Amino acid sequence: MGKTPDPSPDADSGPCTVRRWRMVAHATAVAACVTILGVAACRGSEEPIIPAPEPLDPALVTEGKDIFRFDTFGDEQYWTDTLRMHEVIQSAVTPVAALGVGLKVDVDALPAAVRSALAAGQVDLDSPQTTLALIELDAVLGIKGEVRTDMTGRKTLARVGITCALCHSTVDNSFARGIGRRIDGAPNVDLNPGAIVALSPAVPAATKAVLNGWGPGKYDPRINMDGLNTPLVLPPAYGLNGVARETFTAEGPVSYWNAYVAVTQMHGRGSFSDPRLNINVTQTPDMVTPKLAALRAYQLSLEPPPPPVGSFDAQAAARGRTLFAGAAGCASCHAGARFTDVNDGVLHAPGETGMDPRYAARTTQKRYRTTPLRGLWQHAPYFHDGSAATLADVVAHYDRTRNLRLTDAQKRDLVEYLKTL
Ligand code: HEC
Ligand code: HEC
Repeated sequence: MGKTPDPSPDADSGPCTVRRWRMVAHATAVAACVTILGVAACRGSEEPIIPAPEPLDPALVTEGKDIFRFDTFGDEQYWTDTLRMHEVIQSAVTPVAALGVGLKVDVDALPAAVRSALAAGQVDLDSPQTTLALIELDAVLGIKGEVRTDMTGRKTLARVGITCALCHSTVDNSFARGIGRRIDGAPNVDLNPGAIVALSPAVPAATKAVLNGWGPGKYDPRINMDGLNTPLVLPPAYGLNGVARETFTAEGPVSYWNAYVAVTQMHGRGSFSDPRLNINVTQTPDMVTPKLAALRAYQLSLEPPPPPVGSFDAQAAARGRTLFAGAAGCASCHAGARFTDVNDGVLHAPGETGMDPRYAARTTQKRYRTTPLRGLWQHAPYFHDGSAATLADVVAHYDRTRNLRLTDAQKRDLVEYLKTL
């Protein structure tokens, strides 16, 4: 069994058209038959791809945490050399502006003196110099910069890049809004990646208009590949141990997607290829591929944050659970411990769940994965496009599109149950 996940699909022809994914845990196991085209003959006879959460190597997890939080994979080549974000940040991004586009500050990275000055209102939140000081402390989630200080004490930002933590971590707001302890894996639903990129002087006006149209908590990870625009909600990167394939359309296992994002979206220095998408990027040295195993282990170690005490009605939730598994028919797709049927190779045509087909059409699979339900209380809005603002909207959506005829009381019970997951 190899430790290094192989992100490249192993296309296969034969009597039934399947693709095999060489998975870490099952490199030597029976062929992991994922039905891509729903070929019935390929299903049923195979073992699930990842039958149970796998044990993780603690040393690898720790290494991955550091990569997840602080590694830019050399993407300064894009964020600094191409987008010139270092100029924008040092000239115009005050802490107020940074918090305004949803950036978060890690209170644990601040020295005690800075914390008390902040609490006393003695820190200038209208000066980009303060932003640079925070970046220098590694206190801004997902932003990694090289800050220089001249003889007069003035700071400049020499290089800047982004990390996975930018979109997939947030804080608990324990110090102030936007300032608190890190929660890795939780999507930053306040983050406005489109507005951030649109600050760059290198982006043409027409593109800026598109980027500014996304709004907080959304990002389109294919706009630079196919020119189309259907932004997705930033999903959690937690609760994935035991889930066979990642992304809303089940593009591949976690390392496949990590490599895709690091190379084609963050623009890190690394190699990624997927013949299905006609992508073949080779860069040397490859600063992405050697880190995928540790990064994967860290993500798989992240469990969803538990629902806050008192955030749901336990009795109603118990009734909702019965409905979920029974009359409402949810568990037919949201099956098993991770609430998804993707481990059995099943994907769903957009019409089955009343979803907008446009994003799926842009992907290799053309269909949607049953989203593993995890930490739902933490990351509204829901569905790949955020089309359900609340859990009540989710239930109303299914009631309508799947003709469930639930009573108002049943709908409320289902919502209470969803809040517990
Ligand atoms: C600019 C924001 C952004 C950055 C930076 C980013 N991602 Fe994502 N990530 C997304 C979006 C949007 C999706 C949804 C894509 C999809 O499902 O098709 C996603 C999907 C994922 C998923 C799939 C979740 C699931 O439910 O299957 C994982 C895991 C993930 N990202 C991990 C990472 C890692 C690791 C990095 C760093 C290498 C990273 N992401 C960097 C925005 C981002
Ligand atoms: C036919 C299969 C199927 C059934 C039945 C089904 N779901 Fe889903 N569910 C999906 C798919 C596929 C998605 C992903 C859709 C998307 O993102 O566009 C999804 C997404 C969700 C989400 C969004 C999760 C997130 O993180 O955004 C929630 C919540 C949810 N379903 C709850 C339910 C409930 C409650 C029921 C029963 C009333 C139900 N589902 C019935 C397949 C199904």
